[in-house]
Amino acid sequence: MIVILDFGSQYSELIARRIRECHVYSEVLPHDTSITNIKNKKPKGIILSGGPSSVYDKNAPTISKKIFTLGIPILGICYGMQLMTKILGGEVSHKKKQEYGKAHLQIDNNKNLFANIYLEMVCWMSHGDAVMKLPKGFRKIAHTKNSNYAAIADNKRNLYGVQFHPEVVHTPKGMTIIKNFLYNICKCEPSWTMKNFIEEEINNIRKSIGKENVLIALSGGVDSTTVSALVNKALPGQLTCMFIDQGFMRMGEPERIIEVFEKHFKIKLIHVNASKRFFVKLHKVTDPEKKRKIIGTEFIRVFEDEVKKLKGKFKYLAQGTLYPDVIESAVVSTGVSKTAVKIKTHHNVGGLPQKMNFKIVEPLKMLFKDEVRQLARELDVPEEIVQRQPFPGPGLAIRIIGEVTPKRVKILQKADRIVLDEVKKAGYYYKYLWQAFAVLLPIRTVGVMGDKRTYLNTVAIRCVTSEDAMTANWAHLPYELLEIMSSRIINEIADINRVVYDISSKPPSTIEWE
Ligand code: XMP
Repeated sequence: MIVILDFGSQYSELIARRIRECHVYSEVLPHDTSITNIKNKKPKGIILSGGPSSVYDKNAPTISKKIFTLGIPILGICYGMQLMTKILGGEVSHKKKQEYGKAHLQIDNNKNLFANIYLEMVCWMSHGDAVMKLPKGFRKIAHTKNSNYAAIADNKRNLYGVQFHPEVVHTPKGMTIIKNFLYNICKCEPSWTMKNFIEEEINNIRKSIGKENVLIALSGGVDSTTVSALVNKALPGQLTCMFIDQGFMRMGEPERIIEVFEKHFKIKLIHVNASKRFFVKLHKVTDPEKKRKIIGTEFIRVFEDEVKKLKGKFKYLAQGTLYPDVIESAVVSTGVSKTAVKIKTHHNVGGLPQKMNFKIVEPLKMLFKDEVRQLARELDVPEEIVQRQPFPGPGLAIRIIGEVTPKRVKILQKADRIVLDEVKKAGYYYKYLWQAFAVLLPIRTVGVMGDKRTYLNTVAIRCVTSEDAMTANWAHLPYELLEIMSSRIINEIADINRVVYDISSKPPSTIEWE
């Protein structure tokens, strides 16, 4: 495995993913992880990530000099290279040689790190400080117009530094460099695959849970479905899934969940239809944050009530926590802050209270989302769940602007079904779109249907493209497709006489309307 020490770079996670794409296991650890803990992981290589600080900042994150004497190959990226330079006795200049964006890298030595790359390549730079004098034992292996030391190496000690970011797509040959580091320098084998993961994880689950019973709260999304499939494979007959239907799911979705779990996986399912409780709590509530909080709290209440009925039969609760959440909380706790201002209160089935006397197991906690999808396929999760677009925990309730009533949920379910059917038929659901959905607006406008005046609600269609939901663009769908969706919604849903298309991107808008 490879350890990535995180100095606050926005790319630390990406480095881990790139390494795993090369079938080598990698973990991101906080930069102040002790040398003993690093050694205990038995890494074949260490990467020092980039970061927003300058090595001269008062509280600049640092590492012990000992790390360079462990005999483990090290690659410093950007800040990581500057820190290594400073600690080993070289010099770094402060804010004199800034360089942002694409640069042409001239390779001075194409052994080891730059093997299989011929003389020149494009790389992505983003740095304020720069290395000015090399530590003893190092030499320059590449330069750009602005950076004399764009890449450095001490071949004897197997220490390497690159000023640019090999992990981003703007460095087209970045993967070759990463592979050179992994396979040639660290001597890693490309042996980390999903099949191995399943085998190992099944053993772990069996060892830690033994003959006890396990409960999973199910949302119908890929994470909770995959955890269920994995635990069920490890402990057939010991798992029960609880599916709490809040009443805000898509048309036909509760039925489909029951079918997949009971018929396809043959897992015991407790189906709780709690919609009445949720509608009562949401009566006359229109504020988006209040809605989110009420739904989140009520979900927990229902879960607690249902668990009471189970009378302590379950010792373990399995959850679909993923690796980005683990990194986020680890990194935040070390003070290299990644905390952001709260825009929306998220509510997911993963966020259940800890005080409920369950032992928590999180078998996906070392995986990224795309790895969970691979795992899901290996575990025979139906493709429609594997590729399901993201769906918010509070469901359609936050796509109904204004009060949420059973009637309005039904209207939106119909519109949502039409939007999904049509984008799927046109081939955009799996390829181009991050999300496609309908939003029910509380305003009524005037229309004319069959020579009669109408005064009915409006539906907005929201289709976006995105890489990670942090930013998004409104999708430039063909007019013909928009026209089909619009006329179907107006013709097939009696309560709607107008359809609008949302042409706002994120930021400044968000993807969901509430
Ligand atoms: P926004 O609206 O903040 O959404 O641009 C970003 C992404 O997050 C999804 N989303 C949620 N996902 N629980 C979730 O699991 C939630 O409460 C929630 N709210 C928004 C949204 O669909 C989009 O993909």
